[in-house]
Amino acid sequence: MAIVSSGSSAPRGPRPTPAPRLLDAAVQENEQEQERPLQREDSLRPRKLADYIGQSELKQVLGIAIEATRTREEALDHVLLYGPPGLGKTTMALVLAEELGVRCRITSAPALERPRDIVGLLVNLQPRELLFIDEIHRLTRVAEELLYPAMEDFRLDLTVGKGTTARTRTLPLAPFTLVGATTRAGSLSSPLRDRFGLIQRLEFYGLEDLQAIVQRAAGLLALELEPEAALEVARRCRGTPRIANRLLRRVRDVAAVGGHGRVGAALVQQALSLHRVDGRGLDASDRRLLELLHNGYGGGPVGLDTLAAGLGEDPVTLESVVEPFLLQQGLLQRTPRGRVITAAGVAHLREHAA
Ligand code: ADE
Repeated sequence: MAIVSSGSSAPRGPRPTPAPRLLDAAVQENEQEQERPLQREDSLRPRKLADYIGQSELKQVLGIAIEATRTREEALDHVLLYGPPGLGKTTMALVLAEELGVRCRITSAPALERPRDIVGLLVNLQPRELLFIDEIHRLTRVAEELLYPAMEDFRLDLTVGKGTTARTRTLPLAPFTLVGATTRAGSLSSPLRDRFGLIQRLEFYGLEDLQAIVQRAAGLLALELEPEAALEVARRCRGTPRIANRLLRRVRDVAAVGGHGRVGAALVQQALSLHRVDGRGLDASDRRLLELLHNGYGGGPVGLDTLAAGLGEDPVTLESVVEPFLLQQGLLQRTPRGRVITAAGVAHLREHAA
């Protein structure tokens, strides 16, 4: 049986009788759903707000919201987290759930292709639970329209049947919190964006915070790391904890194979050069972009699509994954006429010429 969203204009009345068969499939399928497989980075994630290093404004805002929500014994307001990948959006959703003492269901927009996928998740939520939707800018229109009344009034408006026999059913939901994450806040429709009570941007991390994150992760991995070595990883991780932890594992491998008990800065440099990560954290794709811009197009301006085609990359990945760090480092500029390499970008290429 088809489930389609009826938009947000369905009448609100007394508790409706749910459309049993309509929901059965969605509910059962959701209940049978496997737990999200444990990911490697899970073991290094902080679980409490107090253990989450950096993003001080975000922590302050969410800390106040958590405290107020606990006092009122309500569901936390819906939260939208945006910013480049790897900065801790999923981690923060899990921290929120831990602090509130509730479960967090994790999914991503591409996994919610059929309306029944999102219906199944929503009807199975218990009061005050969190639903984390990654890449929320990629929701289908139908899923998005189902979410509007769900977010606003904790109800689902479902249309059962087709044509003249179509009927609208309204189903109450438990008060829940939607945590949406996106690398592309600009791609979110404004009706969806407007339904989030808290909208927070995650920033690239500073060196000191990254050094502390690396040191903490080394402790969890039982790796003896000198402070200078942690700083060296911090310098090379593009301001991103996920990359820092990945690099740290590569350093650990080199240390283990070489029989090094305690890891110093020189070993980090040696290990990371092997992986073509330079002293500023730029990797092979970053340097290829700068080199193409400099050598192929006289420094620019060049349009995103042209650049992406020259690199054999997808323009969306280039824009949301590769470019943000280069822009933040002042190595690249976006102008109305296209991308331009900066003097610092040219200097970086010279310093790191093969
Ligand atoms: N691991 C990854 N991100 C972290 C963070 N922000 N604080 C502590 N550990 C982390």
